[in-house]
Amino acid sequence: MPRKLFVTTALPYANGAFHIGHIMEYIQADVWVRFQRMQGHEVHFVGADDAHGAPIMLKAESEGITPQELVARIAADRPRYLQGFHLSFDHWHSTDSPENVELSQDIYRRLKAAGLIDSRPVEQFFDPVKGMFLADRYIKGECPKCHAKDQYGDACEVCGSVYAPTELIEPYSALSGARPELRTSEHFFFRLSDPRCVQFLKSWIDSPGRLQPQVANKAREWLEGKGDQHLADWDISRDAPYFGIPIPDAPGKYFYVWLDAPIGYLASFKSYCAKRGIDFEGFLQAPDTEQIHFIGKDIIYFHTLFWPAMLHFAGPPYRVPDHVFVHGFITVSGEKMSKSRGTGISPLRYLELGMNPEWLRYYIAAKLNGRVEDLDFNPDDFVARVNSDLVGKYVNIASRAAGFITKRFDGKLLPPDAGRPVATAQWTTLALEAEPRIRDFYEEREFGRAVREIMELADRMNEAIDREKPWELAKDPAQTERLHQVCSDCIHAFRQLTLFLAPILPKTAERAADMLGLATPLRWSQLREDPPLVIKPYQHLIQRVDPKQVDALFEPPESAAGKAGAAKASAAASTGQTKKAQNAVASKEGTVDEFISIDDFAKLDLRIAKVVQAEAVEGSDKLLKLTLDLGTQQRTVFSGIRSAYAPQDLVGRLVLMVANLAPRKMRFGVSEGMVLCASGEGPGIYLLSPDSGATPGMKVT
Ligand code: 2FM
Ligand code: ZN
Repeated sequence: MPRKLFVTTALPYANGAFHIGHIMEYIQADVWVRFQRMQGHEVHFVGADDAHGAPIMLKAESEGITPQELVARIAADRPRYLQGFHLSFDHWHSTDSPENVELSQDIYRRLKAAGLIDSRPVEQFFDPVKGMFLADRYIKGECPKCHAKDQYGDACEVCGSVYAPTELIEPYSALSGARPELRTSEHFFFRLSDPRCVQFLKSWIDSPGRLQPQVANKAREWLEGKGDQHLADWDISRDAPYFGIPIPDAPGKYFYVWLDAPIGYLASFKSYCAKRGIDFEGFLQAPDTEQIHFIGKDIIYFHTLFWPAMLHFAGPPYRVPDHVFVHGFITVSGEKMSKSRGTGISPLRYLELGMNPEWLRYYIAAKLNGRVEDLDFNPDDFVARVNSDLVGKYVNIASRAAGFITKRFDGKLLPPDAGRPVATAQWTTLALEAEPRIRDFYEEREFGRAVREIMELADRMNEAIDREKPWELAKDPAQTERLHQVCSDCIHAFRQLTLFLAPILPKTAERAADMLGLATPLRWSQLREDPPLVIKPYQHLIQRVDPKQVDALFEPPESAAGKAGAAKASAAASTGQTKKAQNAVASKEGTVDEFISIDDFAKLDLRIAKVVQAEAVEGSDKLLKLTLDLGTQQRTVFSGIRSAYAPQDLVGRLVLMVANLAPRKMRFGVSEGMVLCASGEGPGIYLLSPDSGATPGMKVT
């Protein structure tokens, strides 16, 4: 019986480009979805941008555009990534859409009718200059415990203590600098503490197979609380000005972004159903439909408490999630990347360097399992893994045999026959024995184990080929029949491996299918069907990874090592802009092509810094690792100036640095800023220094 699957990935905030964490989640979901499609199941796979909330509103404001314009600009960039990494979403939508307004308001009205919405006054800090209530992250002040200055409203980054924003000493608004005032406003609450909610969630969480055991445990912990700490009601309203969906019959009140965000899954699906003529409500209500959300471990709370409760008490046609599949984070060389700072590998840079998206798909799949574990991207492991498995094991099988089949046997294969007296004949049996295991591994999202099984099969086949030595058989006319048998087995093996790997390597599988004469879209059942017996000439399918490309992924962009124009241009370069973008700032002739406003310039936080430590970076011929004193803090910066400066000559020197550059994860560590240099067409990099009298921390204006 074909299954009916509605699958989503977490909706990314529409205020920034995708980072590697997003791409990892999409690859995980995409592999699973493609596997299900190959099984012949009906799958609808949708995503959307999470458009609402204060950060997006404020970012748009700072750029002098509307939030809608900001969201549209971000949305316009999504296809590059989605197509670039072969992510097969059926539809991509936005939470700032008519469907989401309609669904969010409908769900809210139903919850209200069920007696699960309350309202009560809430006292909160208000910024009198901006005219808005401030979320904790927009309030700063002195830590009440350790007295560190400029700490956020909810926790101190210095001593780690947690407090309420009202406990801060000398609080100020991070938006305007104004002293916030306590004001009261009416807020709406979803009554999660209602015994009906608690009872429902208990049974939903405990339902066998719904959640991974770790996730169910976590959700149970929250639900049951500790001591007398029970599940609190959820504040779902925000006051104007807010970029969000208006709450019905409550002028000036909007839904908190986390209320309408998951409803965005349904909004995207609804918009897609309308396009495709699918009955949205009918599909959701069908008893055999499965609603499945892929998410990261940081948003379990929302997806295992609020979201199922909202759906359950809203009632049909809404259905509660059948599964929430949670994954861990991706680290790069063992270091955590930050979601908000977006450090890590840049997926766009990966594509722009011409790196094959299927290398990354394969590497990530090979390291993923069905548990909530972090996955580490290790550059050396990446090169070794892709080159040895994909090129050395998988593609090798075809490339060793296809030439003989084309040249010596007119492209014709002998049918598989396990009884043939050649070492390669066992192949089909072995593959079909492994098939149920591989299928289960895919189903359970144990992709790493699936890949291991598949590569073991490839190893066996390569060993058998080594025993038969087709390249020797080819020299002996008496062995022609044997050569034909061995090479036919190789191609059959390659076909089976291609089908096994198709969810992970969709483009390679398509090209291989063309060569093998396999009908597309590929189906899992083709593993057990009689194969086509004529092939087209072999064309190379996957290149090896060149370690230099991986280095380039981690190196600072070229100009930071002194190749582009002016110092400003290299600042632009380090923010991850492409060379094309840099050239728009400063052309070769040194003339300025494009002006920036004084506001653009003001965004740069340029500071005087003192080099307190400098050392060469092992494994890099370009970089020096600098420890910089900024007056109140120290920063580590990797700078591409090794060719021009000896580390010991730099210690004690004053330099200019870009202090508010987003930290960048490099192969050797995180770089927390950039040192300014001048360079021209020829060789030579020249550090900029201030006149005497300047001291560390001074602002450059
Ligand atoms: O954490 C995030 O990035 C959120 N934008 C995820 C939302 S998932 C769903 F609820 F929309
Ligand atoms: Zn503190």
